[in-house]
Amino acid sequence: MKNLNRRHFVKQLGMSSAGLMLGSSINSVEAKTPCDHNTTPIIPFVGTHQAGITTPGQKHIYFIVLDLHTDKLEDIKQMFKVWTSYSKNLTQGKNVKEYSKNHFIPPADTGEADSLSAHKLTLTFGVSPSFFTKLNINHLKPAELTDLPHFPRDQLKPEYIGGDICIQACADDPQVAFNAVRNLVRVARSTITMKWSQSGFTSYDDLQTPRNLFAFKDGTANFSGQKLDEVVWVQQDNWLKNGSYLVVRRIKMFLETWDRTNAAEQNNTFGRYRDSGIAFGHKDEFDTLDLKKMDEKGKPIFPNTSHVKLAHQTGLNILRRSYSYASGIDDHAQFDAGLLFISFQNDPKTFITIQNSLGNTDKMNEYVTHIGSGLFACFPGIVDEQDYLGRSLFDAI
Ligand code: HEM
Repeated sequence: MKNLNRRHFVKQLGMSSAGLMLGSSINSVEAKTPCDHNTTPIIPFVGTHQAGITTPGQKHIYFIVLDLHTDKLEDIKQMFKVWTSYSKNLTQGKNVKEYSKNHFIPPADTGEADSLSAHKLTLTFGVSPSFFTKLNINHLKPAELTDLPHFPRDQLKPEYIGGDICIQACADDPQVAFNAVRNLVRVARSTITMKWSQSGFTSYDDLQTPRNLFAFKDGTANFSGQKLDEVVWVQQDNWLKNGSYLVVRRIKMFLETWDRTNAAEQNNTFGRYRDSGIAFGHKDEFDTLDLKKMDEKGKPIFPNTSHVKLAHQTGLNILRRSYSYASGIDDHAQFDAGLLFISFQNDPKTFITIQNSLGNTDKMNEYVTHIGSGLFACFPGIVDEQDYLGRSLFDAI
């Protein structure tokens, strides 16, 4: 084993591109990858908000939900301190810790990302309602943080629900994302067990909106800038200020049924055109929707069962940050594939209202089933060197 850490490696390659390094912006440090010699930017872990929320979506996700198996607050606090230190290193393309010269102990880092740079890795941490119950700190659980209600047509499976902590690892490289989660879990084995996980991908060229596995552009109506901040960040003056609520849904998509559906019905399902992403009766993909538009016969342009109409008519906004998944073949010899739907919002009620509007009416329900679910409160960001994940919560105890 080479006694060379990832930082060392990146530094070595960086030498030959000093000009590039100097030219990079403060919060986007350039690092060289070993194989293709491309540069991959670093997304800072330190900031008012956790990264991986309003950060533009990277190409891969490894999402994991963990169960606590201790009620010792001090142990949990310590675990978050170690995770903070590990995360700072990992998101800079470094090993979790320096490798030791002692070859009679296991290497400090699992190592599969040793020859890779950061690939825009972000690590985002959240806690569920049961986290508070297990630690006997229910008085600090925000009123908004309660288990999501049962929605029409939910068919949740025990293996994709529950859990106390979530970690969302996103990166432009799948091995970098997995390496991060693997190391975070490895160091915390005495306090947590793994409950469920899902990897996912999203692909796009240049600035195009990515397509989901129904081939529709997905994410068009998401906001950016100040409006996005208003949608996402918790403003109340409690430990969660500057944090956010993460909803995750593992939504199975019946690709075989979809692929037998005619093109007009596919468009009607969403109220947008599959090829361009443009909404019915509109001109550009990003036009503001006018649900009252009529056709030449005076009939409403949007089908009443279309996904976009039902979601939009609530007048509410969430930040969708979803990834497709393809995880082998199910018991019926069909693809086990779908959408790892993830949304961020400053109040889970927003998601609940939209999901209830989709309810039984959404035509898309003919082609999807929700089988996994979770709600997590994502901590505010780490603001200085002394800070650690969850400090505002632990300080309030
Ligand atoms: C497999 C499941 C899903 C698929 C394939 C899907 C797909 C889409 C597509 C293609 C669009 C139109 C383009 C866009 O604006 O992104 C859209 C819009 C939207 N979806 Fe979904 N979606 C799914 C699940 C959900 C869920 C669970 C929710 C929330 C409860 C949701 C909320 C929305 C919202 C808020 C919009 C924007 C509506 C607007 O124009 O204002 N979607 N979705």
